[in-house]
Amino acid sequence: MAHEGGGTLLQDKVTVITGAGSGVGRATSLLFAAQGAKVVCGDLRKAWVDDTVALITDAGGQATAVECDVTSESDVEELIAAARRTYGRVDVVFNNAGISTPGLSIETHTDEVWDKLMDVNVRGVFYGCKHAVTAFKEQGDGGVIINTSSIAGLVGIGGFGYGASKGAVTQLTRVLAIEVAPLMIRVNCIAPGFMLTNLTKSEEDAFSESSEEEHAQYGRMNPMPIPVVPEHIANAALFLAVKTGRATAFNIDKPIADFYEHENDDQHDAQRAARAISPAAAVGPGGQRSEQQKEQDDQEEDIHDGVSL
Ligand SMILES: NC(=O)c1ccc[n+]([C@@H]2O[C@H](COP(=O)([O-])OP(=O)(O)OC[C@H]3O[C@@H](n4cnc5c(N)ncnc54)[C@H](O)[C@@H]3O)[C@@H](O)[C@H]2O)c1
Repeated sequence: MAHEGGGTLLQDKVTVITGAGSGVGRATSLLFAAQGAKVVCGDLRKAWVDDTVALITDAGGQATAVECDVTSESDVEELIAAARRTYGRVDVVFNNAGISTPGLSIETHTDEVWDKLMDVNVRGVFYGCKHAVTAFKEQGDGGVIINTSSIAGLVGIGGFGYGASKGAVTQLTRVLAIEVAPLMIRVNCIAPGFMLTNLTKSEEDAFSESSEEEHAQYGRMNPMPIPVVPEHIANAALFLAVKTGRATAFNIDKPIADFYEHENDDQHDAQRAARAISPAAAVGPGGQRSEQQKEQDDQEEDIHDGVSL
């Protein structure tokens, strides 16, 4: 059965999403599946991620739920392995799981709070990036990594430890993007503004209805005072996941080539070898685009023109 009201922007792309049981992770899982992706949904809370998968399969999409604690390297490794076992490969890894600890001053940040924030928000992204790169290298035809940072990782708001953890995500994304660009692996992060999700609710209040005024209150914390919802962030992730998002890698391509050319001949050779993979992979044998590829490219041009985040 085809996905109701879906498209083909991510047709048959295998995507792994952490924190997929709620908020941004759930919205992105639903959107990616509606665009034809096979989605491996990881979350600490199995019941939540089972619900995400049920929403996808009920609508005719393909998805698998995996219980995964991103602070455990073996869990993250297994999450990506599960994607490859179940669907044959992995194309996109979205390291999105995160926690926050609202309302704490520096004096009320205990070691325990600090360690927990760094474990989930930074170590979890590190493990996701590491095992995504290993898988992409084995497959040999590039890949996409998307991390969730925050406005709190760019400017001085959002809490001391949380801001520090998201600043780390922003910077590790920059460094990794340069490191793996020669392998045709694109790495980006999204820095959402404030939105009302389960992130700031207690476990008992999770998924409780929030009033329009509560959403508006969160909206007013953003420079443009309108409510942000997880679906907005999911659209940003879709932009980065599809081929249109290649534009996000072009600006680093030339400097990195020059750097490796002058600094390290071995790496430069590796880079040239990796580049040689790309055009063939993009157009297929004989340089012809398939009908499905043409349709996908046309849709990607549409999203490029029309995307509004
Ligand atoms: N809500 C906001 O205002 C906001 C703003 C900027 C950035 N973010 C970031 O967006 C991301 C998603 O947040 P959200 O607002 O959708 O929150 P959410 O609480 O709705 O979703 C987070 C999900 O991550 C899961 N999770 C938590 N710890 C985990 C772990 N150790 N292993 C695996 N899964 C785990 C939770 O079970 C939950 O399903 C987070 O990284 C968050 O920091 C949120």
